[in-house]
Formats: sequence, structure tokens, C-alpha cells
Amino acid sequence: MQGPIGGTAMARKHLSVAFPLLAALLAGPALAQAPDLADGRRIYDQACAACHGPTGRPDPSSPVLAGLETPPADLSDPLFNSREPANDWELVVGHGGHAMGLSAQMPAQREALSAEEIRNVVAYVKTLADTSDYPPGEFNYFLPIRTKKAFPEDEIVWKGRYTPLDGAPDVMRNVIEIEKRVGHRGMVVLELIHEDDGFDSEVTKVEGGYKHVFGWNRERQSILSGAVILAVPTDGDESKEIIPYLAYARMFGDDWVFQSSARAITPLDDAGDGQLELAGALHYRWTQWPRNVFPGIEVVAEAPYDHFGSDVQWSAIPQLRFGLTKGGHVALNLGVEVGLSDQPWDYRVHAVLLWDFADGSFFKGWR
Ligand code: HEC
Repeated sequence: MQGPIGGTAMARKHLSVAFPLLAALLAGPALAQAPDLADGRRIYDQACAACHGPTGRPDPSSPVLAGLETPPADLSDPLFNSREPANDWELVVGHGGHAMGLSAQMPAQREALSAEEIRNVVAYVKTLADTSDYPPGEFNYFLPIRTKKAFPEDEIVWKGRYTPLDGAPDVMRNVIEIEKRVGHRGMVVLELIHEDDGFDSEVTKVEGGYKHVFGWNRERQSILSGAVILAVPTDGDESKEIIPYLAYARMFGDDWVFQSSARAITPLDDAGDGQLELAGALHYRWTQWPRNVFPGIEVVAEAPYDHFGSDVQWSAIPQLRFGLTKGGHVALNLGVEVGLSDQPWDYRVHAVLLWDFADGSFFKGWR
């Protein structure tokens, strides 16, 4: 007998033949079977608690712990527990710490446990802390080149931009960004901007600000944040700028990451003289293993407040993200920005190197 569930499954099967993308969109996480937490708990108590502690907090007096080079992190800490995507943890539990650049003393379980059991135990580990007010690490998507990220980070980023110019020396711009999470949903950021235009080579701007996650939706895997940045030029004659922005990101199906941001760059001396910048990025996340190359494309539109609509400058940035370490906590993004309007440059080359310092030292997990 075919009940309504069988019917839906049939319909989805037909759909997935006819429209793979549509089927992927419909078959979101909501339709996946919920993990069995009781089974997860049973496995945790048997196979994990000796090292990680029955509550997720390793017991410093345990003799097992004394034998470990790297003590396991506290899984009951909500910030730590929330920031790592469940999928990364399924890879760690299945393939062992070494596979993700962590200590090899974290044992691989894929011989002992089925994929289902690994999913169950990771889902149970995710319940060891109350993470309800922390944005889930699942929504920590790749850092695009110009689109602002919604997820709060503990990161140090170098952004280089090289602009060849006709009839003038080429311009090189370097930005160092230090980002630190604060509270449950916040992040503070400090940026130093250095420019070399062939005449002067100097720090031209210092920026600082705060980002806050307004909310997220687990079904759509979406996240929305807002931020305010103050930009202070080192040349006292230039105006300071206040730069509020919104950043929104979501998944389409299992593989497509969409990110977008809207920035209003407003000079404090003359607020009408500002500029609006809309940016969108699409990345193809074809595997869950972080050490890989992921293609992406960004489109940016910039326009002055007073000529909005008539004077839009478009550019496109095809790019490649290289996960450099096994866990992807050091990554490089290379892109070429092509001017599609009457920009003073034809193209410029971007390189972004990021180090997520919450995941450990820069030198960890390369081999
Ligand atoms: C022999 C001791 C031991 C056992 C047993 C063990 N672990 Fe671990 N686990 C570790 C150590 C040590 C680390 C830390 C690795 C590092 O940070 O380099 C770790 C790391 C982890 C992490 C990664 C955290 C991160 O840094 O992102 C997760 C998740 C985890 N273990 C879950 C489990 C689960 C689930 C089980 C049971 C199926 C388990 N572990 C069994 C020792 C163990």
C-alpha cells in the first residue's frame, strides 16, 4: 500500500530526475530524518566520555587525560560547541583528529560506528551546551573578497589588492583585519589600511567597529547581521566616514552558498556625498572537506547617494578559494575584479589570506 509519504517520495524522485536543482532546493534539511539523540548518548557514554568527560568537559584529574598530548576542548562550552559545524565534527569523529589537522589521539570511529551512529553521537554532543543564543557554525560561510560576511569571527585577515593603471604607477593596497568575537553574537573589528601609489607608501586609514548577528534560520541555513564601522583617515584634512552595513547569507540546496551585503559609506563632513555599495557572492561548496578549491563569483554595484540609479559602477570578481590547512582554518582566496562600467582601471587582482585563530595556531594542520 502506498501512503501519502510514499507518494511524496515518489514525487520527489520524479522531480530529482527532471529538475535536480529544484529537487535539491525542496529536499532541504527539514526533510532529513532527525538524529536519534538517545542512541547518540549511548555511544557517547561508551566511546567518548572516557576522554571528553561525561558532560563534555574533560575531567583534569582523569588518568586518561594525563596520557593525551593535546587535552580535548570543552564540548560543554557554548561558544566552542556552537562555532564548529556538525559536519566538521562528523569528519573528525569518522576519520579521526589527524584527518582534520587535529591531534591523532582523537581516534577514528568509522570502523566501529556506522554513518548514522556518527551523526547521532555528534548530534548528541551538540546538546552538551545550551547554544540557543549563539549563531551556529554551519552558517560560517567562505569569506568573499568584497561582500561582507554575516558570521562573527575570531580571525586575522590580510587583503591585498593590486591595481594596474594606464599612464600612472600601479597601486597596491594592503589591509590587515583583526576580528574578535564578543558576547554571544557580537564581533569587534580593527582594520589598518596601507596604500602604495608609487608616490607615497603609508597607512591611509584606520577602521574600527562592531558587528551583531540579528538572527538565523536553520531550515534555510540563513543568517542576518548588521555592523557599524568608523573609518578614520590618517590625513587630517579628509573626512571620517561612518559605514553601517547589513549582511545576509543562505544556502541553496546542499552545495550553493549565497552571501550579500549592503554598505552605506557616509562621510561625516558631508553626509550627502556618500556612496552605497551592494555586493553578492555565490560559492559552489561541492565537498564538505575543507582542504579543497572552491569556485565562486561576486558582483558589486557602487553608486553615489545623489546619482543613485544613473551612475552605478558594476564589477564582477570570479574567484577561487583554497582551503590550505586540513581543517580549513587557514585559507586563501584569489580573484580578479573586472570593471564593467567606466572605472579608471580595467581589472584588479585580489588576494585574501585568512587565519581563524580560534581553531589553533597558523602552523597547525598543514601536513
Ligand atoms: C582517546 C581519547 C578520545 C576519545 C575516546 C575520543 N576523543 Fe574526541 N578528542 C580527543 C582529543 C585529544 C581531541 C583534541 C584534538 C585536538 O584539539 O587536537 C578530541 C577532539 C574531538 C572533537 C573536535 C573538537 C574540535 O576541536 O573541533 C570532537 C567533536 C570530538 N573529539 C568528539 C568525540 C566523540 C564524539 C567521541 C566518541 C565517539 C570522541 N571524541 C572520542 C580525544 C578523544
